[in-house]
Amino acid sequence: MITQYRDALIESALAIRGRAYAPYSKFPVGAALLGTSGTIYCGVNVENTSSGLTVCAERNAIANAIIAGERTFAGLAIALEGGGTPCGACRQVLAEFCPDDLPILLVNANDPSQVEVTSLAALLPKPFRLSRE
Ligand code: THU
Repeated sequence: MITQYRDALIESALAIRGRAYAPYSKFPVGAALLGTSGTIYCGVNVENTSSGLTVCAERNAIANAIIAGERTFAGLAIALEGGGTPCGACRQVLAEFCPDDLPILLVNANDPSQVEVTSLAALLPKPFRLSRE
């Protein structure tokens, strides 16, 4: 499924990055999450003067999808300066909803031809799960 949507995911992550609210870090991040329905849900980082309240782009994309009623996912693209990987908190939140083999496209916003492909399992091999589940 990701192959068909690869370009759309990359373009969505790059475009939505322009809406990031990042006046403190000046480090905008765009995320585009592909639902298994084929809909793409976007997120940006939303910072706060109380810095611990900042919410990353990936978690806002997940929230957008959940609000829309979609709960199964087939891919994620994130666009940020220099490329880079989702933070640990976002990896755990992604693991709540996404398959281990979720493809993740890491797009260098400075040069969008640079796309590194990885997976949730590669970034978070052993997500926390409640042991009684
Ligand atoms: N950020 C994200 O949006 N996603 C990540 O995976 C890592 C970091 C944001 C948070 C903060 O607004 C800025 O990048 C710098 O840390």
